[in-house]
Amino acid sequence: MAQDEPNLKRIVAERAVDDHVRDGMTVGLGTGSTSEYAVRRVGELVSGGLRLKCVATSERTANLAHGLGIELFDINDVPHIDVTIDGADEVDPGRQLIKGLGGALLREKIVAAASMTEVIIVDESKVVDKLGVRTPLPVEVVPYGHRKTAYALERKGCKATLREAGGEPFVTDAGNYIYDCKFESIESPFFLESMINVMPGVVENGLFLNTADVVLVSHPDGTVTKIE
Ligand code: 5RP
Repeated sequence: MAQDEPNLKRIVAERAVDDHVRDGMTVGLGTGSTSEYAVRRVGELVSGGLRLKCVATSERTANLAHGLGIELFDINDVPHIDVTIDGADEVDPGRQLIKGLGGALLREKIVAAASMTEVIIVDESKVVDKLGVRTPLPVEVVPYGHRKTAYALERKGCKATLREAGGEPFVTDAGNYIYDCKFESIESPFFLESMINVMPGVVENGLFLNTADVVLVSHPDGTVTKIE
């Protein structure tokens, strides 16, 4: 029987936790609806007696983890992170990613960079031939002069739309705004990233390049495959 979307997210999230999380580890907890299933699985393991130190990639995930009795640490207070399990918005065949539709790209990138293994969990619908074809690229910018930053982003060939929540600009955990930048497709992700990162006002972008060590993909028949 074909699995529905929530099940596809749950299956891949639980597989990631069961395959990669072991007693005594420090674990990064991702953000988003797929990661939420992973956090819930970590909560079950902790309730069952596994001793873990966890680091959350957002306030949203921290709240969820607290409610599940998961002990959270400040990223500055752990020497390293053994494994982080996080979702993505697009994955290409080379394991390059777009992340950030959930608004947590800045902390997610910092946590990923501090992690020995970054495990990305997606369902099949997120796998694309080329980045940018399906989703916009989220870019986090400081509020000061944000329209000027958006103009600079658009000169790179995208339509930049200020993300809103309840009619107001969406504000990230770091107090910044996000522009969702829709390209037709992203032909040279490394080049684009290098151009975006040097723009005044840009804090971080949602291209996660050479970041994922393992990508797990769930399929409608309930199987999970690996992009490696
Ligand atoms: C949050 C993210 C999420 O991992 C990404 O948006 C995927 O979310 P979901 O699992 O809900 O589709 O990058 O910043």
